[in-house]
Amino acid sequence: FRAHPVHLYHKHLDFNSLQELPDSHAWAPLDDREYPTGVESFCSETVPVIDLTDSNALALIGHACKTWGVFQVTNHGIPSKILVDIENTGRSLFSLPVQQKLKAARSPDGVSGYGLARISSFFPKLMWSEGFTIVGSPLEQFRQLWPQDYGKFSDIVGEYDKEMKKLAGKLMWLMLGSLGISKEDIKWAGPKGEFKEASAAFQLNSYPACPDPERAMGLAAHTDSTLLTILYQNNTSGLQVLREGTGWITVPPVPGALVVNVGDLLHMLSNGLYPSVMHRAVVNRTHHRLSIAYLYGPPANVQIAPLSNLLGPSHPPLYRPVTWNEYLGTKAKHFNKALSSVRLRA
Ligand code: SIN
Ligand code: FE2
Repeated sequence: FRAHPVHLYHKHLDFNSLQELPDSHAWAPLDDREYPTGVESFCSETVPVIDLTDSNALALIGHACKTWGVFQVTNHGIPSKILVDIENTGRSLFSLPVQQKLKAARSPDGVSGYGLARISSFFPKLMWSEGFTIVGSPLEQFRQLWPQDYGKFSDIVGEYDKEMKKLAGKLMWLMLGSLGISKEDIKWAGPKGEFKEASAAFQLNSYPACPDPERAMGLAAHTDSTLLTILYQNNTSGLQVLREGTGWITVPPVPGALVVNVGDLLHMLSNGLYPSVMHRAVVNRTHHRLSIAYLYGPPANVQIAPLSNLLGPSHPPLYRPVTWNEYLGTKAKHFNKALSSVRLRA
């Protein structure tokens, strides 16, 4: 199945004008799906919350990555002002009139800008969300949105980017460190292991309150094509992760915490030891939800392959080497089967 190109749906972005869920946005009721929803009410499992200043953080993170592929971090060192500022930026952006937001619309083949979720073309129904993707400087697009004070918002994004990049590097070493990987093992990390050349993108997501949340979908199930993703969510829940054999588990907002998930490229780097977690976002009737994803990956020309330290006679490499761009191409062809399409035959 292939839906129409996403840009044809820009007329569907005026959520405020919709009093009921149009057929174009009506998915099967959430509980009809292969996996049950809301299982946390009867199972005691919760996504681990890890204090980054805990002396045991390395082991806790390694365990969370192996068993969940996702965790939340507290005491992560990102000043709360920066989180407040970025949340306010997202809020100002999405509350602009639709016609204004469309001035910064993502072009049909582009990556940056405003529009429906980028994965929309893989699904027969539309999602109850709008997004804004930032790759590189958002200055030009922000100028379209806010002719007066675009500079201020662009500075906030720049500041957030700087802080996230630092945190992502630190998390990389914790995640890899607990697999016994050290700085010398990853050439592209640079002499001091700062991952200076890493690439990143931002995704601001807005999920308006929805008249029929049981049949709507905020963001359909997917894995991230990143090394790792750091997600800030406002105080409204909606993010769910798939626990194989159990069902969809909500990742509740913890004030000040950030959600960290393993992406497909770290899954490959770890030779499958760290699963890339399947996740989605659901919506609700009363609250507007906002999330900001920092998508972190390797430099464009670097090939990602299972780390040699993790290989041996009984641990053959499971994946063939790919650059981030090659992998994104594969993902565009195979979407949620992209990982298996780069898997080597044993
Ligand atoms: C995402 O998967 O990019 C965002 C999920 C969320 O909004 O919680
Ligand atoms: Fe995601």
